[in-house]
Amino acid sequence: MDRHDFARALARDAGKLAHRGFGTSATKMKGVHDVVTEMDQAVERFIRAAINTRFPGDAILGEEEGVSGSGDRLWIIDPIDGTANYARGLPRYCVSIGYMERGVPMLGAIYDPPHDGLYSAAKGEGAYQDGVRLAVSPCTAIAEATVECGWSTRRPARAYVDLLGRVLEGGGAIRRAGSGALGLVDVAAGRVEAYVELHINSWDCAAGIVLVQEAGGFTNDFFAGDGLMHGNPLLATNAALCSKLAGLLGIPITG
Ligand code: IPD
Repeated sequence: MDRHDFARALARDAGKLAHRGFGTSATKMKGVHDVVTEMDQAVERFIRAAINTRFPGDAILGEEEGVSGSGDRLWIIDPIDGTANYARGLPRYCVSIGYMERGVPMLGAIYDPPHDGLYSAAKGEGAYQDGVRLAVSPCTAIAEATVECGWSTRRPARAYVDLLGRVLEGGGAIRRAGSGALGLVDVAAGRVEAYVELHINSWDCAAGIVLVQEAGGFTNDFFAGDGLMHGNPLLATNAALCSKLAGLLGIPITG
């Protein structure tokens, strides 16, 4: 089994495990509006054990336990993305597994347990939902576009309000559904035109970035600087609105 097949199978298995605690797993707070459940930790241990068994030389960066190992091959995992939804029994959460080689995002696998949806992409091979090829939205007008605006307390409330204002005054519609990884899935699947967040962590978006790019969309250079370890702003859009949205939101997309 190659790494792509492995990542897909692992995301699904991890998601089945996660779903056993949907809405019931014990919670504690890591910070303001930043919840962790016992299942986040159990699923991360499960994913780490599987990677360590199958690819023992690979490094792992996970939301709950940080970095282990070193070298050119790195897995970036979010055991449960959309934890606040998950803890409250809201069916919008997923398992996200990304993989990079020498700093280049190569693979993404995202499993959405409540809807039994498996999304994956490999660099140069397209993005798929359960075997069906994904493509970004063809929408060309911001006045017809929906932009998911991710939020956390890692940036000031005023900056988020300004971001919403830019989208709305530019003529777009906004939404926020609480999972960065599934927001990127929605861009890749053409369900929304863009996902933007002023600061997001690599485990939330490493897999989704590959999906968006392989579905014909564009992202800013999220991994620039120390994005991998400390996060960065993220803009992911369909192709047709890429330059308009990058200008409107002040997040450049090059290349
Ligand atoms: C969060 C979600 C949320 C995003 C935040 C993330 P978590 O991740 O992806 O949608 O806006 O930036 O921290 O805590 O649910 O894994």
